[in-house]
Parts: sequence; C-alpha cells; structure tokens
Amino acid sequence: TDLSHIRNFSIIAHIDHGKSTLADRLIHLCGGLSDREMQEQVLDSMDIERERGITIKSQTVRLDYTAKDGKTYQLNLMDTPGHVDFAYEVSRSLAACEGSLLVVDSTQGVEAQTLANVYQAIENNHEIIPVLNKADLPASEPERIQQQIEDVIGIDASGAVLVSAKTGLNCDEVLEAIVTTLPAPTGDRDAPLKALIVDSWYDPYLGVMILVRIVDGTMKRGMKVTFMNTQTEHQIDQVGCFRPKMEKLAELAPGEVGYFTAAIKSVADAAVGDTVTETKKPATTALAGFKPSTPVVWCGLFPVDAADFEDLRDALGKLHLNDASFHFEPESSAALGFGFRCGFLGLLHLEIIQERLEREYNLDLITTSPSVVYKLHMNSGDLQELHNPADMPDVTKIDFIEEPWIKATIMVPDEYLGPVLQLCTERRGEQIELTYVGARAMAVYRLPLNEIVFDFYDRLKSCSRGYASFDYEVDEYRESDLVKVSILVNAEPVDALAFIAHRGQSESRARQVCSRLKDLIPRQLFKIPIQGAIGGKVIARETISAMRKDVTAKCYGGDITRKKKLLEKQKAGKKKMRQFGKVEIPQSAFIAALKMG
Ligand code: GTP
Repeated sequence: TDLSHIRNFSIIAHIDHGKSTLADRLIHLCGGLSDREMQEQVLDSMDIERERGITIKSQTVRLDYTAKDGKTYQLNLMDTPGHVDFAYEVSRSLAACEGSLLVVDSTQGVEAQTLANVYQAIENNHEIIPVLNKADLPASEPERIQQQIEDVIGIDASGAVLVSAKTGLNCDEVLEAIVTTLPAPTGDRDAPLKALIVDSWYDPYLGVMILVRIVDGTMKRGMKVTFMNTQTEHQIDQVGCFRPKMEKLAELAPGEVGYFTAAIKSVADAAVGDTVTETKKPATTALAGFKPSTPVVWCGLFPVDAADFEDLRDALGKLHLNDASFHFEPESSAALGFGFRCGFLGLLHLEIIQERLEREYNLDLITTSPSVVYKLHMNSGDLQELHNPADMPDVTKIDFIEEPWIKATIMVPDEYLGPVLQLCTERRGEQIELTYVGARAMAVYRLPLNEIVFDFYDRLKSCSRGYASFDYEVDEYRESDLVKVSILVNAEPVDALAFIAHRGQSESRARQVCSRLKDLIPRQLFKIPIQGAIGGKVIARETISAMRKDVTAKCYGGDITRKKKLLEKQKAGKKKMRQFGKVEIPQSAFIAALKMG
C-alpha cells in the first residue's frame, strides 16, 4: 500500500474506560468481524486478562477502511497493555505509531494511568484524537470531560469525538478522524530494512511470532535477517498480518505493521525494542530506545510437594517461552528445599505467573517474600546485587546499601486525599507535587519501591474506595539504612519469611509479621515461639499456645459424618502445609504474613 494510505494508531485508555469495546467496534465497522464474533471480545484473549478486565499482551489488527473521500486506507490498530508493570511494551507500541486515540469515559474523566500513557504518546510526537466514550449513559458529561482533557493534559480537545462503543453511536466518526487528522507514516522502500520489534509471543504451531513495524525497506519470506541488538541471525519463514484472523502476505512494506516467523524457539531471542535488518544489506544504525527488560521484583517459588520440582521446572520453561520478561533460576533453601528464584516486572506480573502455574499446571506453590533488588556496596569496594533477603551477607562487610526508588503519580477525588497522603507518608514517601484538576487531586511522590511491592496498590484502592489511580516509573537508587529481619518459628529461622526493611520500621514490621503468623499457624501439641530478629537481637515475639483438644472434640462425638468431613478437610489442608522442624506452616501464611498495614 502507498504510504499516504496507511495510518498506524494505538488506543490509550484507563482500565474500564472501554478500549477493548471500541477496538472491537472499529474492527466490526471495517468488516473484520461478524455480528456473532462481535459478541465475544476479540482483543483480550487470555483467561486471566478477561477475568481481571485488564490487557496484558498486546494484539494488533489491520483494517481496511473506505473513507468518505472514496479511498481505501490500511489502518493498523496496535493494542497496548494496560498496566504499569508493562510500561516498556507500551512505549514500543507507541513508537510504532503516528497517532493515538485517547479514550476517556465521559462519566469518569482522566485517570493517572491515562496520563502516563498520553505523555508517552506526546513524547513520541503522536497526533492525539480524544474520544469521549459511554455517551449512552445518563451520567455522561462530555463538555466537562473535554475541558478537563484540555486543562490536565494540555492538548486541544476541540476535535473530540463523542461515542458509545457499546451501542456503536458515532464510531464511524472515529475512523474518519483517524484518516483525516493522523499523519501517514514515512519510510524509504529502497533503503536497507529496518523494522522495530513491538511484541513477540509463542505459537505452538509456528514457534515464536514477532510483531514488527517496518520503518524502511521491505521484509519477505526467505530473507536472512539480523537482530541488531542481540546480534543473532534468522531466516524468515512467513510474513503476514492479522485481520484479526491471521493472513499470509507476500511482503511487509515501509509504514506497515505485521508479523513474521523465523523458526525461533524462545521469545527471549526476539526482544521487544530490537531492530531487524537484512543480513546482506544491513542498516548502519539500530532504531533508538532499545532497553533489555530487567525484572524489578524477585521472589522464590517452591513446590509444596518436593516431588513436583521437575514439573515446576517444565512449567516455568513453558511460560518463559512466551514471556521473556520473567526470569527464573534454580534455588535451594534450607527450609523449602529445591525451587526457583524468579524475577518479574512488578507484582501484578508475579501474581499472573503464579496464578497460571497453579491453574494451568496444577501446581501447589509456596511464594516467598517478594523483594526488590538492593545494591550492596562492600567494604572491599565490590558492588553486589541482592535479590533474596536470605542471601544478605555479614553486615560488618557492608559499607552501605542502596535501594530503588520510584516516582509515583496518584490521582484521587479530593475527599479521599487525606488518607492517601497519609499512606504515602507511612511508606516513606516524599511529596514532589500536589495539584488540583477540578475536584481531583494529583499527587506526585517519590517512594521506595520496597514499600509498594507488597500491598500499596490494594491499600490505595481501599483507602480511596477504589477511586484513586496509580502509575509509577522506576526512578533512582538511594542510600538507605536497611536491615534484614529474620523470622524464627520455634527457634528455627524460616528463610522464606526473612525480609529487608528500613531500620526505623523494622520493629513494627517484625511485630506485625509475628502477630499475623500467630493467627495463621495452627496450634500444635506444644507451645511455639515466633520471633523477629535483626542479627542475634530479638525485636518482636509472639507465642502460639499449645492445643488442648483434638479437632474432632467439637463434634461431641455425635455426628459421624461431620466428624469424617472435618478430618477430610484437615487432610486436604495438610497438602498445602509445609513442615518446618516440628512445625507445619500453611502455604497461605507466607504471603499473608508479609502484607503490611
Ligand atoms: P482494559 O481491557 O482493562 O483496558 O479495559 P477496557 O478499557 O478495554 O474496557 P472494556 O472495553 O472492557 O470496557 C469496560 C466496561 O465498560 C465493559 O463492561 C463495557 O461493556 C463497558 N463499556 C464500554 N464502552 C461502553 C459504552 O460506550 N457505554 C457503556 N454503557 N458501557 C461501555
């Protein structure tokens, strides 16, 4: 297709503002979907995504749209992941387009997540079309939201399109606006091939599929290509696009978006952000902005049943085929036996992988306390990275420790601002900015990452009745007075429960964990002390008193079936327990004990 007839765009929206519904509607209008198919949402495909109503993996669709000028345009809709953990993938999708639709729920208004993505789009020189969605609802306030977009984001919203993605009202106007206001891509067909890897995923039949935006040159079947950052070579098997069904094409030309396959086995070999060029006629420079993905949150995953270790290894390997951003390496722990140390982009990412392992691979797992990566400056002058609190070396050998900080943007209605600010202060936050946008406050804070990895987001939601929105980026490493707190159950240290905390908070955290564990660990026939300690010094202590009666005692010996049920339940519960010396700790205790607040 002639470059002037191509438009590449992404949709930026806060969760639940209607991105998927609008995408489906646009696909439907361009004939890519039948009425029946329209019933099911096409773009969000993973189960967990659908259940949680968030987009994790991006998908892209090519549409043919015949505009009012009578010409047919190729529209490439790039779906972007909708969660802070996947900010880098978002940035690459945006780099592959010339414009964005900014979808805002006209009954709600602008949210923090939207802001972060809009600013990224602006940085990528995007032309932005505001789309005010949910016009069918009586609570829709298009004028107010349009004004808010101008005030908060500072873009001209006079061309905003008011639509209902649900009923289809005005959705054709969105397509028309894409054609008339977004710029066409530029590119040189005769220059050496340069293509940006936007996404990659594993297909059981075709192997790794790679989504690219062609910047210059053309990509064809049989061509030998080099990935410029990873310096690997591959031969292209197939090129094509999604409409949304997969369709093979003869070539991908400048400005176009599509996929290729090249007998690649693991997505780790096709890093998002890398540049693909032709091996025999290579480009001189790679596209800017490549960043290898680095996990920010680490934890240990151990099978409850040691016999499941090999199954866990297999399952992690399979998941890794499809998700190069999560890392795993074997680890052994005195208490938990053999398992894996795993790195994730954030807590949601961790939960997704953990859930998939349990659901799709039927594994019972113990997840150890999540930890960020600390930098240890040793007396010897060495710099060590600490991924696991249990590996903390002798403190006398450490000169100082640094921890990662983030910059967070929180938007919240005025009436919930008090508790939100208090939460940020509790978590060692430093306020950078507090401004108002209508009745909404926007607070920008610097916070230590380790203060938000456990439950910051949940707490934020609950103290604002779900109204606060949150977005963050990793900022810098800073020196901090940090200590390792060990947890001892019945005088035995439980590695998996050890955590790193700021000295000023170590005592209250240790007390919280001990008191939680007291409720989480079932009573036994003997007394169990639970202690929190820094080095040899005990800073918190609880005791679980001995159990006096046997579990069936409460049935008064009467009802046999109830008694049986109770015993069965206890047996099932056992499966999810882990033996520590003489004490059994339920799986649920590991994470629950570490949640703060
Ligand atoms: P993520 O995939 O999590 O980013 O969410 P999303 O932005 O894709 O939202 P989605 O399209 O799933 O829509 C969220 C909810 O809003 C769904 O229940 C939709 O049915 C509903 N919705 C979307 N558009 C409209 C609309 O125009 N009017 C009304 N009344 N509801 C809508």
